[in-house]
Amino acid sequence: SPRRIAIAIDGPAGAGKSTVARLVAGRFGYVYIDTGAMYRAVALAALRAGVEPGMTGELEKLVSELDIRLEPGDVVQRVRLNGEDVTDEIRSRAVTSVVPAYAAVPAVRARLVELQRAMAREGGVVMDGRDIGTHVLPDAELKVFLTASVQERARRRYEESGRAQGMTLEMLEEEIAERDRQDASREISPLVKAEDAIVLDTTTLTAEEAAERIAALAGRSIAEAGRS
Ligand code: CDP
Ligand code: CDP
Repeated sequence: SPRRIAIAIDGPAGAGKSTVARLVAGRFGYVYIDTGAMYRAVALAALRAGVEPGMTGELEKLVSELDIRLEPGDVVQRVRLNGEDVTDEIRSRAVTSVVPAYAAVPAVRARLVELQRAMAREGGVVMDGRDIGTHVLPDAELKVFLTASVQERARRRYEESGRAQGMTLEMLEEEIAERDRQDASREISPLVKAEDAIVLDTTTLTAEEAAERIAALAGRSIAEAGRS
């Protein structure tokens, strides 16, 4: 039977990582793991507990006690925090704007990376995030760095949820650019392309077209893994 490989998909906000990762996972019967949802769940729990990013000791304790689960859903992956379904709440503007600050804390990253590596142990995963190819799964058989212009990424967010949240395209462009800046400039595991990642610019592609290209690359990687 074919080898079950690990596929790492990294890139900035709105590049289409989650959408494309889900399509590729479905194609191969792999498990899709949205690591951004895990950082969002930590930020939500911390906000609720009144624990700020600078309160390192409290944050370390909070994150060590959290039970975060990713479950397959109809359209999106469901996220459970200590049993509670927080799928919608973790996408709120309040959570989105503070995630990068919590994601920059070493104790938070250490705990989540440990969970992510455990989830990928058996292979057969498509994992998306910011540091999957560079840090979480450095030996992933296929690494893709997905990107698109900031205008296009803002437009996608606008269509997806921004309009409904009362945001303008300009607000989204600013929000996305600021979050990318924070993610790319943090000291620990910043958003950078892994040396051996394949860059795919999706500015003029549909999600299906992007998924098609990654699936073709994955087919090659699976064949190669089977030969070695
Ligand atoms: O979906 P979107 O691109 O808006 O963001 P996300 O993938 O849900 O990630 C939310 C935030 O979590 C990012 O802006 C990063 O600050 C953080 N994150 C991270 O630091 N490392 C990861 N592997 C995934 C997300
Ligand atoms: O995970 P990430 O933040 O990178 O992006 P996402 O949450 O998958 O959101 C991307 C949005 O743009 C979704 O509404 C997709 O349907 C849409 N889209 C895409 O993902 N890829 C394209 N090539 C074109 C549009």
